Amino acid sequence: MFSYEEIKTIRKQFPIFKNKNLIYFDNAATSQKPFQVINAITKYYCNFNSNVNRSVHFLGQLSTNWLELSRNNIQDFINAKYSEEIIFTNGATESINLIAFCISKLLKTYDEIEIIISHSEHHSNLIPWQVLSQNKNANLKVIPVNSEGELNIRMFKKLITKKTKLISISHVTNTFGIINPLKSLIQTAHKYNSLVLIDGSQAISHITIDVQNLDCDFYVFSSHKMYGPSGIGILYGKKKILDKFPPYKCGGGMIEKVTLKKTIFSGLPFKLEAGTPNIAGIIGTNKALNFLVNYSIRKIKTYEKKLLKYAINILSNIKGMNIYSKNSNLTNILSFNIENIHSFDLGKLLNNHGIAVRTGKHCAQPIMDYLKINGTIRLSFAIYNTIEEIDIFYNSLIKSLFLVNI
Ligand code: ALA
Repeated sequence: MFSYEEIKTIRKQFPIFKNKNLIYFDNAATSQKPFQVINAITKYYCNFNSNVNRSVHFLGQLSTNWLELSRNNIQDFINAKYSEEIIFTNGATESINLIAFCISKLLKTYDEIEIIISHSEHHSNLIPWQVLSQNKNANLKVIPVNSEGELNIRMFKKLITKKTKLISISHVTNTFGIINPLKSLIQTAHKYNSLVLIDGSQAISHITIDVQNLDCDFYVFSSHKMYGPSGIGILYGKKKILDKFPPYKCGGGMIEKVTLKKTIFSGLPFKLEAGTPNIAGIIGTNKALNFLVNYSIRKIKTYEKKLLKYAINILSNIKGMNIYSKNSNLTNILSFNIENIHSFDLGKLLNNHGIAVRTGKHCAQPIMDYLKINGTIRLSFAIYNTIEEIDIFYNSLIKSLFLVNI
């Protein structure tokens, strides 16, 4: 567990907290960036900016080496078997869209298939499958959840059939922070020969990920939620599956040979990475990984759990409080409402105290509709948050409640 002094030192590495009045509890939307990440990006542009995989000059070689080093470090971080199983995209959303596009291309028009998601998915892991099922002969099935947002595994076992080709599910839900029971779900899916895609956006900087141990077929996440820059996503896919994927985008960097009549495409990972990648973003992502490895995901998880428990405890005493994050298997997210108060109103009042929380439906409208609520207030913690901040938040909330009640 981190000491108070350690957290203070970690916090100093984030330039945004030079603003002493800022309390940032919106880490599930995006995390803040440490100097290491910002400096690495600046250093790249100042000292060795160059395109990758093209030029023989030393700058080109240096950039290429940095990019491939980042790929190798990501491979180690999630324990992928091969480095070419790591594909750079522009975010988790693009990673999911890439998989949906390639799967739809592999389907024959007459194939009748099923795709399964859960009722808790955020829009990025719902809309691509909705669109695919509208354009193809695919039936989109939904695993129901209970009033606490937990998956109904019994129903999942009834939904899955031999026609199920893909199950796409979040590792941790972005609304309530519930860790889904992936292992048993993946084992069941594989018995039916279905692929499993895990959206790890809310897990990657909070839980140790081992894709080989999970045995998922795809795992996607974004750098900007793990202290890295925005505009960078990672797609992990098992080599034997990605090998069958057609190119998602076409252009430079993904070819073996081109004639006016025909193109022979490269193998993995380049086949799926057309065009100049976000080199600076990938280098920044590598630094964000170093930061996470240095402070240890295991220690970060324990610390965030402590913050979460403290917040749940202190908030539970407020009259009219409804905490949605009740499950015992939580990470860093706490969603709540207070009777008869709209989340936007409280969010705006908290903002007047310098506190950033997320309000509304969190890009997950179906689960809000199911619970018959028009949103929640969501606190999501990160390594730099403190118990003191939660105390200030609590006092500001009480003051805000006084204002909305007069
Ligand atoms: N999906 C992100 C969130 O939960 C944007 O805030």
